[in-house]
Amino acid sequence: MKIIRTISDMQEAVQTLRRDGKRIGFVPTMGYLHAGHLSLVHLARQQSDRVVVSIFVNPTQFGPNEDLEAYPRDFARDEALCRDADVDYIFYPSAAEMYPPGAGVYVNEDHLSTKLCGASRPGHFRGVLTVVTKLFHIVQPDVAVFGEKDAQQLRLIHQMVDDLNVPVTILPGPIVREADGLALSSRNVYLSETERREALCLRKALDQAEQMHASGERSARSVITAMEKILNTTPSARVDYLSIVHWNDLSPAEQLEGDILIALAVYIGRTRLIDNTRLKTTDAHAS
Ligand code: PAF
Repeated sequence: MKIIRTISDMQEAVQTLRRDGKRIGFVPTMGYLHAGHLSLVHLARQQSDRVVVSIFVNPTQFGPNEDLEAYPRDFARDEALCRDADVDYIFYPSAAEMYPPGAGVYVNEDHLSTKLCGASRPGHFRGVLTVVTKLFHIVQPDVAVFGEKDAQQLRLIHQMVDDLNVPVTILPGPIVREADGLALSSRNVYLSETERREALCLRKALDQAEQMHASGERSARSVITAMEKILNTTPSARVDYLSIVHWNDLSPAEQLEGDILIALAVYIGRTRLIDNTRLKTTDAHAS
């Protein structure tokens, strides 16, 4: 496994791989890797000859009062995990390498990015789309894998790739959960013991929604009310948003019909966690 820190070295390595006809799989990350990331690496490996993982805590996707400084980092541990997962290259640039002084061009999306997480984190998706575009130009992957936990990010990456004709296939990776249902996240490390227990309210609320949907409930209002009851009775939880939207345009859905995303962001103490579920209904079931 090679660790590459500069853009020119990464592009040179990629050129050689391309010349040799190798298919490149890419997993962009912000490090502090967990089993969720490793499942994305596994998917990339199945689809390609060489796997590149990038580790870069991207400053442009953090707001001024967010956790950029505190974001967990442990490169030695990440390196060992990547080695075990059979990664071929880690791209590990510095912030100065990625954003030299004077850099001023950003990738912006005007519609999908204003909703859900974009409404509470202005500028977040501009930072994500910009860094992912840069990484795509640096790594030039055939296939890139993104986790479904960041559902809106995944939706936006698809949009960007379509709108800007980026020659890469986007592969979604299913959410990986702890045995008790908590979605894996690098930010789970911030939780105290009590908060860790109470963080299960996100999954419980989604379970409730899935059960209601399975038993034929189609009213988004009723599902939201039932989910809110679970979240609002959890002492350390403060809901940032809880939305039922159409997957295609992320607009609010009144009925759970078609391709629906139920997404939520909840502060557990000071830690903001996100989770979601996709429900697809062809309406044989509606009452
Ligand atoms: O999902 C993430 O970890 C980040 O948003 C990404 C895609 C690596 C861009 O910084």
